[in-house]
Amino acid sequence: MDAAFKGITLLSQREIDQMRKAGQLAARLLDHLAPLVQPGVSTLTLNDEAERWTQAHGAISAPLGYAGGQGVQDFPKSICTSVNEVVCHGIPNADQILQDGDIINIDVTPILNGYHGDTSRTFLVGSPTPEARRLVEVTERAMYIGIKAVKAGGRVGDIGAAIQAYAEGEGFSVVRDFVGHGVHRTFHAEPQIPHYGTAGKGKKLRTGMVFTIEPMINLGTHEVEMLDDGWTALTKDRQLSAQFEHTVAITKSGVEILTLAPAAVVA
Ligand code: MF3
Ligand code: CO
Ligand code: CO
Repeated sequence: MDAAFKGITLLSQREIDQMRKAGQLAARLLDHLAPLVQPGVSTLTLNDEAERWTQAHGAISAPLGYAGGQGVQDFPKSICTSVNEVVCHGIPNADQILQDGDIINIDVTPILNGYHGDTSRTFLVGSPTPEARRLVEVTERAMYIGIKAVKAGGRVGDIGAAIQAYAEGEGFSVVRDFVGHGVHRTFHAEPQIPHYGTAGKGKKLRTGMVFTIEPMINLGTHEVEMLDDGWTALTKDRQLSAQFEHTVAITKSGVEILTLAPAAVVA
């Protein structure tokens, strides 16, 4: 039995060490896929290489067969690939060929020794418009601003408030229908981490909590629609959406980004 506080699992230092191993593997997987993101490549090719690499490193792809819930198929692929107006949970497909000017979020979650490393980045395909690039830059920065708002003794609402103030100040909107989440042996656990909200509100943040911060930021409306596949979420106005995600831990010595690649530049 893990330690818990009000239904939220609190991880020991040893468990956080395990989460770091999974998180670092997830970061390396995105580093490995990055050079493959080119015009002419299908999202299925990215998926298949991710699955191969994950297995070769002794891990399991959490999304593959992940339960969809009532009336929804289980997720059929190993990663999520969300192109342009797709907000999240895009399903890799052989017929979906990346085009010059696209933006694509790749979201990976390898399970290593039972622990999940959950991270995503939005990549530029060729040369997107300046507006698209700015959306991607603001979204990455929004994620780091959210991470900076995390501290033991603070509140969940501090995170969303910081992200929302920044993203809306840049003229973009924050998706409400999908949130960050606790992550450890369970893929999606308490607490939920909205990327909008009010500072000082929500559950208290405590040492031992591990969760994702994964803002989805839209060029136009924050409203989303679902495709009939039960998974693909897209913007209601079909304008662009971007997303970045890290898994973070609150440790005795501060906040650690478990999925930060060794060579990453924190923008
Ligand atoms: N990795 C996604 C997240 O950040 C969840 C994907 S669930 C899937 O929470 F089934 F779509 F893969
Ligand atoms: Co996540
Ligand atoms: Co994810």
